[in-house]
Amino acid sequence: MSATDAQHDVVVIGGGPGGYAAALYGAGIGLDAGLVESNIIGGTCLNVGCIPAKELLETAHVFRTVGHAAEFGVNSSAPTVDWSVTLTRKQKIVDQLVGGLKGLLKAKKVTVYDGTGSLGANHEIAVSGGESGDITITAGSVILAAGSQPRTIPGFEIDGKLVVTSDGMLSMQQLPASAVVIGGGAIGCEFASMMGDLGVEVTVLEALPQILAGCDPDATKAVERSFKKRGITTRSGVMVQGHTPDPGGAHTTVAFGEGETLDVELVVMSVGRRPYADLLGLDGTSVELDERGFVVADETCRTGEDGVWAVGDIINTPQLAHVAFAEGMLAIRDILGEDPTPLDHHGTPWCIYCHPEVAFAGHTEDSAKEAGFDVVTSKHSFIGNGRAKIVGDTDGIVKVIAERKPDGTGGRILGVHMVGPWVTEQLGQGYLAVNWEATVDDVAAFIQPHPTMSELFGETIMSLTGRSLHG
Ligand code: FAD
Ligand code: NAI
Repeated sequence: MSATDAQHDVVVIGGGPGGYAAALYGAGIGLDAGLVESNIIGGTCLNVGCIPAKELLETAHVFRTVGHAAEFGVNSSAPTVDWSVTLTRKQKIVDQLVGGLKGLLKAKKVTVYDGTGSLGANHEIAVSGGESGDITITAGSVILAAGSQPRTIPGFEIDGKLVVTSDGMLSMQQLPASAVVIGGGAIGCEFASMMGDLGVEVTVLEALPQILAGCDPDATKAVERSFKKRGITTRSGVMVQGHTPDPGGAHTTVAFGEGETLDVELVVMSVGRRPYADLLGLDGTSVELDERGFVVADETCRTGEDGVWAVGDIINTPQLAHVAFAEGMLAIRDILGEDPTPLDHHGTPWCIYCHPEVAFAGHTEDSAKEAGFDVVTSKHSFIGNGRAKIVGDTDGIVKVIAERKPDGTGGRILGVHMVGPWVTEQLGQGYLAVNWEATVDDVAAFIQPHPTMSELFGETIMSLTGRSLHG
């Protein structure tokens, strides 16, 4: 292919959720789309993120369930985990999804370039180092979707053996007997939960005063209580100093807090992810990076360079696959001149798949007060929910934060926070309520099917009307 032959309406650099959503959505509307990917289509999410992490959590779920089968009168011998089967299943699911995505891109006639994309002046993209050879392609519009990479902290070099990031964790050939997880955010809590359920002795070390920093503290407490019952230790407000591997290399001693140490087989580094603009070039363009390395973009994902957008983890918005999808589609709509409504990241749905699951949208109680709202809250526990009892999984709460009306009852719903069984599948109603700016009375009028876990959301809302059924 000669350099001048490759010209598209839109070229996307990076084939993760932000990039492939933009390419698929644009192609579906009739744009001639090109997609440049240096590694594996699907990006972090499909290959080393959401999908494999959730698969390992599902293995932990099955193990936990089988471990309690006798409570249901189902007798099974003591379960064990064959980790190699787990890894094979995880990879099979990843491969199927990556294969399906490749098929979709082909069906929608997206031209996929295998190589590293580097943007220069005049919307010229040099593609190099992959099966597509060294070529230059041009586009009317360009979308940067290069994603992010794991961070580490000084004193902890990632060696893939004693110290791993999520990338290494997801392909560990065997589980350790003991682990320290540094950083109690989304990745840290999901891996701690998974390993704890599979018998690993886990300690989470978090620098901030609480794990899962963005969550309402009542939700965090519910997670911590469940972790504690299952033998997973969480230590908040502690700084980690470094680690000293033992001479045999099978253990390492982690120093933290006021002279404390822990001897473990594995350190999992989950202290956040940095934007990955390293290979994007950008010379001769007006695309700017901020002091943390994020591509600077406005509310419709436009960068400083005319005709260049940036979406997903590479910009400073919530680092979530569904946010990347939404931004990819938003950028295409802007390219088409549709004047799209910017995303409201305050209302972004968050779902964290540790056990118990965590799901929320909108204000926490504190952030609502800080924003100047006079609030009223209601909190109910899954302990009294029929379906949760049947399933045998009653850890968790639903908390709703609403604007206080003069009579003390709830008005507009400001935030919905859930911890418990399948709450990641239950958040939908709360997400809509927050983002539709529904009131407590609006939502209380709807019927919740029985017996379902979602009755707890209905009950929590109803009690904000000043009336209640069970609570
Ligand atoms: P990425 O998915 O990182 O994709 C970027 C792609 O660009 C990569 O494939 C990369 O190879 C490619 N690339 C980079 N530079 C170039 C270049 N110069 N040329 C060509 N290609 C390039 N989010 C959720 O919403 N739910 C979850 O449950 C969840 N779980 C997660 C679990 C883990 C362990 C991790 C690590 C992340 C998780 N996330 C989750 C976050 C989610 O994976 C990211 O927010 C999402 O993948 C970001 O999408 P993206 O398209 O911006 O970037
Ligand atoms: P994070 O930002 O969620 O959490 C990192 C945690 O590490 C923070 O609580 C921070 O205070 C702590 N930390 C930082 N430096 C520290 C230090 N020196 N010592 C101790 N603690 C320290 O980042 P994480 O968990 O790495 O995940 C990255 C992103 O990936 C998330 O923010 C999220 O956007 C996404 N993700 C989403 C998931 C989901 O939606 N289910 C699951 C996993 C990741």
